Amino acid sequence: MNKKALDPVAAFELARAESISRYQSDKRWQTMSGNGCAEPLKQKYMYNFKWMGRPIIQTPIDMVAMQELIWQVKPDLIIETGIAHGGSLILSASMLAMIDYCEAAEGASRWIPKQATAEYGAGYRHPRSQPRCHRSASISP
Ligand SMILES: C[S@@+](CC[C@H](N)C(=O)[O-])C[C@H]1O[C@@H](n2cnc3c(N)ncnc32)[C@H](O)[C@@H]1O
Repeated sequence: MNKKALDPVAAFELARAESISRYQSDKRWQTMSGNGCAEPLKQKYMYNFKWMGRPIIQTPIDMVAMQELIWQVKPDLIIETGIAHGGSLILSASMLAMIDYCEAAEGASRWIPKQATAEYGAGYRHPRSQPRCHRSASISP
């Protein structure tokens, strides 16, 4: 695929997908990743983090992966089992609330940067200008 024909966001996404797909056949990378988990587990590294003041007991990598998944799927509801101190519940609830917030903000006005419109044409839609579905979140920590 001609990456130059793509807008910068699409080109970056393509490069990212190619990079991730290479990991599947990279034995050295897999060994490094496996070894890299053992010591943090032993040292309870994942106990060092909070989400909005609540202990989360997850690695930051997992927290970012959850954020990406939630933003991509945009679920109406997240059910979590295996709660310790509830940090990941707060993470899920705050993501759902943020998706709702974006929808409300975008409902009032759509933000399309002038530079992007000039560069990619009037039909260009910044990722933040995509419509969202309504959803709600509530938890009782
Ligand atoms: C690493 S902690 C996750 C904490 C969570 N991210 C939070 O922020 O509260 C794993 C939790 O899962 C619970 N757990 C482990 N095995 C389980 C199972 N089979 N069913 C339900 N909970 C389980 C443990 O008791 C522990 O509270």
